[in-house]
Amino acid sequence: PNHNVCSIVKGSKFRLPIPDHLQLVLNSCNEDNPGKNADYIPELRDADSNRLGVAVSTVDGFVYTAGDVDIPFSIQSISKAFVYALAIEEHGLDYVLTRVGVEPSGEAFNELSLEQDTCRPLNPMINAGAITTHTLIGKADTSYEERFEKIRKGLSKFAGRELEVDENVYNSEMKHAFRNLAIANMLRNYNVFDLDPKKVVEGYTRQCAVLVTAKDLAVMAATLANTGIQPVTGEQVVRPQTVRQTLSVMMTCGMYDGAGDWVTKIGFPAKSGVAGGIIGALPGQVGISTFSPKLDKHGNSVRGVRICQRLSDDMGLHIM
Ligand code: DON
Repeated sequence: PNHNVCSIVKGSKFRLPIPDHLQLVLNSCNEDNPGKNADYIPELRDADSNRLGVAVSTVDGFVYTAGDVDIPFSIQSISKAFVYALAIEEHGLDYVLTRVGVEPSGEAFNELSLEQDTCRPLNPMINAGAITTHTLIGKADTSYEERFEKIRKGLSKFAGRELEVDENVYNSEMKHAFRNLAIANMLRNYNVFDLDPKKVVEGYTRQCAVLVTAKDLAVMAATLANTGIQPVTGEQVVRPQTVRQTLSVMMTCGMYDGAGDWVTKIGFPAKSGVAGGIIGALPGQVGISTFSPKLDKHGNSVRGVRICQRLSDDMGLHIM
């Protein structure tokens, strides 16, 4: 293949080979390191905030990287997008829509944000929606362990390798999960689901504690960019209609309160996580990931957003 940026992405202004270009982008986004690590658990508070990585995977499975792309970190909220896709795949979109909406909440990700008349969580990218989506994996008689294992296996198919849980992150998160437990209890109160709220939060928290690298996230994102076909293994992980739904919700709700800014400035579907990861996917072209632990006030990685902005400008990734 021709490893020039311009040859893989339509509208790209740059002619440098991709790896050199990615290194330049990292350097230009690394002049300072504002924001702060998530600090509600020691594992995230003490994570090395100098880490910085970027990975780009083409839809034909070439992965280009610069910086810290092999450092494992917890997937956190980025899992919400993939588990939403797995839920649609398992139950069909019509059913999933009866349980979780698709409207931006305009509130923080950890607000309850239920629709007035139906009590559906507004969208699957906020915690209330993601906790509900978690319960949609499997059937009524699926055990909590089986449900989590289905999710772990599903995420692993997107990554093209077996992903594992960081037990320390999981245990720490559970010591501080008061708010998610409250949300899950409210959801149970409104009969949004009828499972045990504590068990559900344990499963959702394990889902968030799955370890990935920036390289993993780039191919996971590229699977979404590639109509659900994992570009390296060739496996159809989810169907094209499922991908369309998932990317649409990422576009409107993926970056929390920062979504409007994100869509206008950067312009491709994305999802962030509190450990400092961001994924982006441009259908038919590339999956992108960034890793940098310090977050802005919305909970999005500061240097990650910068890198995405720069890549969007240089490579013409804005959909408009
Ligand atoms: O649900 C939580 O609070 C975390 N385990 C994950 C949240 C998250 O990643 C928010 N992202 N910026």
